[in-house]
Amino acid sequence: MKNILITGGAGFIGSHVVRNFVNKYPQYNIVNLDLLTYAGNLENLTDIDAKSNYTFVKGDICDDKLVNRLFEKYRFAGVIHLAAESHVDRSITDPMSFIRTNIVGTVTLLNAAKNFWKDNFEAHRFYHISTDEVYGSLGSEGFFYENTPYGPHSPYSASKASSDHLVRAYYHTYGLPVVISNCSNNYGPNQFPEKLLPLIINNIKNNKPLPVYGKGENVRDWLYVEDHAYAIDLIFHKGKNGETYNIGGENEWTNIKLVNKLCEIMDGKLHRVSGTSAQLITYVKDRAGHDLRYAINCKKLQTELGWQPTVTFDKGLEKTVNWYLKNTHWLQNVLSGDYEKYYQNQYQKR
Ligand code: NAD
Ligand code: TYD
Repeated sequence: MKNILITGGAGFIGSHVVRNFVNKYPQYNIVNLDLLTYAGNLENLTDIDAKSNYTFVKGDICDDKLVNRLFEKYRFAGVIHLAAESHVDRSITDPMSFIRTNIVGTVTLLNAAKNFWKDNFEAHRFYHISTDEVYGSLGSEGFFYENTPYGPHSPYSASKASSDHLVRAYYHTYGLPVVISNCSNNYGPNQFPEKLLPLIINNIKNNKPLPVYGKGENVRDWLYVEDHAYAIDLIFHKGKNGETYNIGGENEWTNIKLVNKLCEIMDGKLHRVSGTSAQLITYVKDRAGHDLRYAINCKKLQTELGWQPTVTFDKGLEKTVNWYLKNTHWLQNVLSGDYEKYYQNQYQKR
């Protein structure tokens, strides 16, 4: 039985990756290392947490003693590294926690992998999960390719860019077997309601203002989270060492068009007169350094590894909205005192 370390497995994307690996690969023992920050939630994994090939460890990826102890105990065959501080707005108010987790945490894992695997690199793999935001911002045309020069603008994207560079440096300098993917915006069940889609769905439900930054003209490329998890599975097993793979939905939306679409869907679900929810749209002060457009070219992943998204946007939005409307208990638990404080602070000052 191979032990695989997944970091950040209690978060949004991580929980979908952990579920897929635990269910699909009984020959792996999945060790999920997660600090359970505000974004980590074990409720995301209640359906698999009793499985015999799953182990949860609460801990910090920056804690090198703990990380080394886990490598010693489990002799991991592979690492899939998702743990991160992930919200751009939080990185603007508190950059240091992003530097710590995203950079120092990644190097702590790289060092452990290098030391424990040094006699047999070929049998191992370190897979680093990253974002398209490292490439910076596009104008109205063009796409991000795997060889697009990095140009991050937010403390979040700069910290992810830095971690990507360090992962590549360990490949070139020490020969560590690494692979990296950079994905566009994910949406789906279990996403913390500080990110656009769940925030808008929750606010529509509660008749609260729908904050749209600036003119709402920024463009994001949206991918259903399970299609990202599927790409991660494919890249972990079939990707080539030292390579980078872009992952995207080929599904670009301006924020305002997307918010209007969610309003329409929610009017239907909540039996409101068409146009009711859209009246809640409120333009607020723009995000500092707000990237205009992200768009991914993911032909390499499609042609070399045969990946294609399986969930259309209409279907994915339907599944997502239904999930948030059904999982009121999950939502209630995350909308705790801390969330309330974050929300007040973030949206009052605008
Ligand atoms: P998330 O914020 O929902 O989850 C992050 C998880 O990491 C949480 O469970 C949290 O508890 C854990 N964590 C944070 N700091 C930690 C630490 N020091 N030690 C151990 N665990 C820690 O994030 P997400 O949206 O699921 O993103 C996961 C990864 O995918 C991140 O690396 C992110 O950069 C990347 N990514 C996200 C998106 C997106 O649209 N959400 C797109 C592309 C790439
Ligand atoms: P977000 O979900 O934070 O993802 P990212 O910044 O990583 O792309 O935001 C998606 C887009 O929605 C981004 O252009 C910022 C915008 N946005 C709003 O207009 N209002 C909001 O309240 C939030 C959270 C985001």
